[in-house]
This record gives sequence, C-alpha cells and structure tokens, in this order.
Amino acid sequence: MRYKLSVNKVSETADVSPDTPLLWVLRDVLNRVGTKYGCGMGLCGACTVHLGGRAVRSCITPVSAVGNQPITTIEGLGAEERHPVQEAWEALDVPQCGYCQAGQIMSAAALLDRTPHPTDDEIDAAMSGNLCRCGTYTRIREAIHHAANAGQTAGAAARGE
Ligand code: FES
Ligand code: FES
Repeated sequence: MRYKLSVNKVSETADVSPDTPLLWVLRDVLNRVGTKYGCGMGLCGACTVHLGGRAVRSCITPVSAVGNQPITTIEGLGAEERHPVQEAWEALDVPQCGYCQAGQIMSAAALLDRTPHPTDDEIDAAMSGNLCRCGTYTRIREAIHHAANAGQTAGAAARGE
C-alpha cells in the first residue's frame, strides 16, 4: 500500500504493507537512519520519534497507524534551530557510546513540550522506558533540568525581562 507521510516537514511516500513498523519505513525506505533499532518490542526506547508531537516507539507503531500525524525524527528535531535538549546534551557531555541517545533526546524533548519544568520524579517517569546500557541516566536528568532552565532564560529574554 502507498502511504503519504510528513517526515520532518517533508512530504514522503512509502509503498509498504500496512503492518510495517514505522521504524523500518524511516530507516529502510526513507533513509532516516538516526532513529535506532534496539529491541524491536517497545522495551528500550532507542527507536523513539515524535508522532503528532508525542513520543512513540516506532518499532511497534505500524505505518498504518500514522495517518496524517506529522513525524519528527532526530534529524528533524534541530533542523531549523538546535533544540535546547541538544544544546544541553552537548553542554553536559551526556552520551557515552551514543546508541540510545537519539531516543533519549526525543523522549526528553517531548517531556519538556508538555512539562516545561519537570521534577526529578517527572523526569524519571517520562524517561523510564529509555534504557541506556552505558548508564548515562544521571547526566540525562541533569541535562533535562539544564534544558528546562535554558528555555526559561530564553523565554524571559524574549519577554524583555
Ligand atoms: S527498538 Fe523500539 S523500543 Fe526498543
Ligand atoms: S550511551 Fe551507550 S547505550 Fe546509552
């Protein structure tokens, strides 16, 4: 079947069967390989993308479930202007091997969209489905706070405060 998809604000088409996971459409058909395969079962978060602004596991999201919801991948997150989460990740030197980090960043960005100043508990709850074999969890939490504070500073500057 032929699917029309909006990926990072670009219109794409994919001719695949309805049950094809969005992850494979992104990686194998559309060559957006920044989104990673980890478990393929919705358990690790490596494949996280935004679908209609929500963080979803693309490995267990069939392409037929996308509809007209826009898809954002790690390639699109900072395409126009680097996202505060990306800035924070670099400032705090979060990644180790890096394999899980695209998914971590996408989950963190979705969290800050709906909760601009999350508590530690809110961060832990939102990020608990993103596993990191290298154990970068402490830096991830610090970086999310860093990004939240940067967003607050940027907002105040924009308001002339
Ligand atoms: S690859 Fe999708 S959750 Fe692990
Ligand atoms: S940085 Fe290596 S798995 Fe997370």
